[in-house]
Amino acid sequence: MKKMIAGIIGGTNGMGRWLADLLMKEGCRVHVIGRKTQMTAEDAAQICDVVVVSVPIAATAEMIARVGPLLKKDQLLMDLTSLKKEPMALMLAHSVSEVVGCHPLFGPQVADAKNQNIVLCPGRGEAGYAWLKNVFDKNGYSLVERTPDEHDRMMAIVQVLNHLNTVALGLAIAETGLSRAEVDSFSTPVFRSKMDIVEKVFTESPELYADIIARNPDTEAMFNIYERMIIQMRGLICSGDGVNLKEAMEAAAKKLF
Ligand SMILES: NC(=O)c1ccc[n+]([C@@H]2O[C@H](COP(=O)([O-])OP(=O)(O)OC[C@H]3O[C@@H](n4cnc5c(N)ncnc54)[C@H](OP(=O)(O)O)[C@@H]3O)[C@@H](O)[C@H]2O)c1
Repeated sequence: MKKMIAGIIGGTNGMGRWLADLLMKEGCRVHVIGRKTQMTAEDAAQICDVVVVSVPIAATAEMIARVGPLLKKDQLLMDLTSLKKEPMALMLAHSVSEVVGCHPLFGPQVADAKNQNIVLCPGRGEAGYAWLKNVFDKNGYSLVERTPDEHDRMMAIVQVLNHLNTVALGLAIAETGLSRAEVDSFSTPVFRSKMDIVEKVFTESPELYADIIARNPDTEAMFNIYERMIIQMRGLICSGDGVNLKEAMEAAAKKLF
C-alpha cells in the first residue's frame, strides 16, 4: 500500500501528537503544524495525502474553512474533534475531498490501545476511510461507526452529563470554602478518585471540557434531566427519610444494570 503523507494541524500537542506518533509508527511521513511551526496549514494542504484538523474546538470551524477549499478530490480531510455534527458538516461543505470524522474516546496519554474506542463517521469517499480504519484496526483499537448525529447524542451522556456532574461537584466543593488539602485528610478512596478527576478537568484543560459541555446539540436536554433529578432527589429525601430515595435508586438500577 502507498505510504501516505499526513499533515496534522494541531500535531504539536495533545491528540494531534498522539495521531502523529501512530502514523509515524505505520511508516507514514508526518508533518506537524502548530501556530509557530514553519509549515502552515496551507502548506500541508498542498503536499499531504491526508490533512487532519486537531485544534481546540473553538478554533476548528475556522481551520476547516481555511484548509478545506485547498484540497483536491483524492486527498483526505479528517478531524479528531470531540463533537462530530458541526465539524463534519463544515468539512463536507468546504471541500471536494474525501472526508472522515474521527473521535478517539480517550486522551493523548493513553498507553495501550486495548479497550480503547474510536468513533468513525464516514463522510465522503471510500479509500481514505478504508486506509484509516485499517491503521486503527491493525493497532488494536475498537472501532465504532456512527453518523455524526448518533455520535453527538451518545456524547451528550458520556461527556456532557458526565462532565457537568464533575464540574458541579468541583464548583460545589469550592463554594464550601474548603481546599482539597483540607478535605483530603478525611477522604475515602472513592472520594480521592473523584477529586483526581475534578482536578484533571479543572486544571489540565478546562477549555476542552467547557466546549464539550457548551457545544453539544443536546446539552439543554441534559441540563433539564440533571436539574429535574436533583429536585426530585430533594423531594424524595424530604418525604421519605431516605426510604423513597433508596427505592428510586433500586428502580433505576433495574433499568441500568
Ligand atoms: N484531549 C483529549 O482528551 C481529547 C480527546 C479526544 C478528542 N479531542 C479533540 O482533539 C482536538 C484537540 O484537542 P487537544 O486536547 O489535543 O488540544 P491541545 O492539547 O490543546 O492541542 C491543540 C493543538 O492545536 C494547536 N492550536 C492551539 N490553538 C490553536 C489555534 N487557535 N489555531 C490553530 N492551532 C491551534 C496547538 O499547537 P500550538 O500550541 O503549537 O500552536 C496544539 O498542537 C479537539 O478537537 C478535541 O475536542 C481531545
